[in-house]
Amino acid sequence: MLTDNFGRKFYYLRLSITDVCNFSCSYCLPDGYQCDNDRKFLTLPEITRLASAFSSMGTEKIRITGGEPSLRKDLPEIIARCKQTPGIKKVAITSNGYKLPEHLPAWLDAGIDAINISIDTLDPRQFHAITGHDKLKHILKGIDMAVAAGNTTVKVNTVLMREYNGYDIASYLAWLKDTPITLRFIELMQTGDNKEFFDAQHVQGSRIKQNLILDGWLPVINDKAAGPAQEFYHPDYAGKVGLIMPYSKDFCNTCNRLRISAIGKLHLCLFTEQGLSLKDYLQTDDVEPLKAAISNMLTDKKQTHFLHDKLTGATKNLAMLGG
Ligand code: GTP
Ligand code: 5AD
Ligand code: SF4
Repeated sequence: MLTDNFGRKFYYLRLSITDVCNFSCSYCLPDGYQCDNDRKFLTLPEITRLASAFSSMGTEKIRITGGEPSLRKDLPEIIARCKQTPGIKKVAITSNGYKLPEHLPAWLDAGIDAINISIDTLDPRQFHAITGHDKLKHILKGIDMAVAAGNTTVKVNTVLMREYNGYDIASYLAWLKDTPITLRFIELMQTGDNKEFFDAQHVQGSRIKQNLILDGWLPVINDKAAGPAQEFYHPDYAGKVGLIMPYSKDFCNTCNRLRISAIGKLHLCLFTEQGLSLKDYLQTDDVEPLKAAISNMLTDKKQTHFLHDKLTGATKNLAMLGG
């Protein structure tokens, strides 16, 4: 079992398969994706070897991320390969959902277990202002289809921003009344590229948490391969609410995930700038040297991220590592 110097166990791998994105979310890629032709993204055989090495060291869940992962034509094959890996119990995806209705059937056929879609506002005009695309209605249709399919967990990610959603979560709660999804409010994280935006828009999740508790929402007990959200349920609502608060004190204590970037670097934290390249170890079917390299690299994992350090802040663009 992969365990770090602080006793944390790593059940969960986040695998970025491309850093290309077709959206330009204000906090992430405000100027859109800047093309860099040198990028050699992980190939299907490399991904298969990674899945096999990690699963044999205890990984039970793989989340495929981007950029926008569905911009890769071989995404269904990637899902299927991960899913067929012995020991992998869950394959999940995080997507902007821009073609969710069209892509969903192939993802389901490939065996997807969980789908997280980003929707930062339920107002179509504001959605366009944030992402640069007029796709809200289409994405919501895809979410309804995914819910109706019944065999996959559906979560929606909403990054809290003062101007767009602030503390006004009433419209989201109304949606959750009859919709069996988990809606997670995510505190905006500061990256090197968004400092000004961060200062103007950052909203704390703790106020929302207080209000939820006052309104009778109750904490959900999560399993060991769950993500970083504190989740709440309410007997009168079909949906759940989650809060992802990376600035809260103990956020990193329960870290259970490692990340691989689209170019095959292991990142020990979302905010570790320098990844450790695994590319050389991915060229043969013998995964033993790859496993030894991963175990060795893990000894460098720090106890916490450095977001609390207001002077340093975070310095990276989350699109490169898929959040
Ligand atoms: P589940 O497996 O469904 O719980 O998903 P998840 O919340 O781990 O994944 P998702 O890709 O939907 O990420 C939601 C948000 O959580 C994104 O903004 C991520 O950047 C953030 N996030 C996920 N893991 C971490 C982490 O280890 N540290 C920090 N700071 N943020 C994280
Ligand atoms: N702060 C918080 N969340 C972010 N995401 C991307 N950049 C940031 C940021 N700076 C979120 C997206 C998506 C998930 C993968 O990461 O909204 O839901
Ligand atoms: Fe693309 Fe996701 Fe970044 Fe938005 S947050 S620009 S959808 S990678």
